[in-house]
Amino acid sequence: MPRTDLPPGPRGTLFGGSLRGFAERRLDFFLDVARGYGPLASFRFGPKRMFLASDPALIEQVLVTDAKYYIKHFGARMYKPVLGNGLVTSEGDFWLRQRRLSQPAFLKQRVHSYAPVMAELTRRMLADWRPGKQVDVNYEFSALTGAIALKTLFDLEATEDRAAFVDALRDAFDLLSARFRHVIAFPKWFPTPANLRLKRAVRHLDGVLDGFIEAGKKRAAEREKTGHAGESVDLLSRLLAARDEDGSAMTPRQLRDEAMTLYLAGHETTALTLSWGWLLLAQNPAAEDRLVEEWKRVLGGRAPTPDDLPNLPYTDAVISEAMRVYPPVYLIGREATKELELGGYRVKKGYTIFMSQWVNHRDPKYFPDPEAFKPERWLDGLAKRIPKYAYYPFGGGPRVCIGNTFALMEAAILLATIGQRYRFTLDPGAVIDLDPQITLLPKYGIPATLELR
Ligand code: HEM
Repeated sequence: MPRTDLPPGPRGTLFGGSLRGFAERRLDFFLDVARGYGPLASFRFGPKRMFLASDPALIEQVLVTDAKYYIKHFGARMYKPVLGNGLVTSEGDFWLRQRRLSQPAFLKQRVHSYAPVMAELTRRMLADWRPGKQVDVNYEFSALTGAIALKTLFDLEATEDRAAFVDALRDAFDLLSARFRHVIAFPKWFPTPANLRLKRAVRHLDGVLDGFIEAGKKRAAEREKTGHAGESVDLLSRLLAARDEDGSAMTPRQLRDEAMTLYLAGHETTALTLSWGWLLLAQNPAAEDRLVEEWKRVLGGRAPTPDDLPNLPYTDAVISEAMRVYPPVYLIGREATKELELGGYRVKKGYTIFMSQWVNHRDPKYFPDPEAFKPERWLDGLAKRIPKYAYYPFGGGPRVCIGNTFALMEAAILLATIGQRYRFTLDPGAVIDLDPQITLLPKYGIPATLELR
């Protein structure tokens, strides 16, 4: 029988519980809770009961063993106004059907076929770069991975009004994050200034997505006309062609939600891996030298192909280490759909279990000197020696990231293609700070100057 009392944890304030700690210093809050109260800790957000699981075995139990008894947590559901009911936020049979439909686009062979597009779009970006140009590293990478996601997943070229799209996106997520921080928020239909802004931002995003889908439909019609209907096609075309058992197609709303989810999930996280990676390299010249030496020896100036990747172990280690120090997804959560047991304690239906990559990836038991950027630590089989959920940048179990192979290949190709031509010199006065939203963003960007290698 599990114990019926609660695991230890901070008491917080009478009404908000620990909401303030979460809102104001989220990353430190989770670290302090894990380090202060042990492998399973408990606290409240307003009236809601939360657990933080920080022992890899407990994380495995939630994500894998008991996965079918958990759904995504309330925080993930709060992003539905933007993400809708797409792969990241949907549940049950509906999620499973959509996941199966999307899966073929992410199989290894298929992902490898995207490599030339990744290299080509990177070359196009480099053609616009000049030594001495001042850039926000994160903006540049996000523009590039966004263009790659559009081309590989939807067979579309980058939109011209990217800046407006990015602003609307940022606005929508900021407003949704603000709701998350309050115990009581006005319902979304209530015309507060924030809700009206949210509505406007979502309308803008919907307009852009509608454009993607219309272009996809046009392409499908052309393929039909030219007799190429059965050819292997991009993911959007697959979703457009999908039929239920009763023959019905996905509704425009479902299509919009899947496209939005894949576009968002499919580019910002990889851009962050590269952005934080370049920051860490700029701060650790010895690691950068070793990386450049590996590229010189294996690639000699050309872009890598998927066949080169096994011969680039240091590149792989740099990417793993960047995602350890600054995990692009630093927090995931699940909600119990019935009474369960975890770590000897009772988990009541409706409780939320948080798991934080930020916390686990900084555990000195598995990563000595955890704050230090040391790609070398991955070179002698560390990943196999540590428990599986000591390091989980892509989550795990049935809801594991569908794009992990895609992301790792993309990160390696972009890093090596760009890094052989340019290096980034951080602006001397640059203030680098973390902004933990759904993903771990650089609060003021990463301002740097391009220099030829
Ligand atoms: C370094 C890059 C990436 C990181 C760190 C990352 C991380 C994650 C994590 C942690 C989850 C699980 C969330 C949870 O359990 O609540 C996830 C899910 C997901 N990711 Fe990624 N991701 C990355 C790149 C990508 C790419 C490139 C794509 C698509 C092209 C993608 C699409 C998705 C989708 C659709 C899901 C939801 C899967 C499901 O629930 O069935 N991600 N990602």
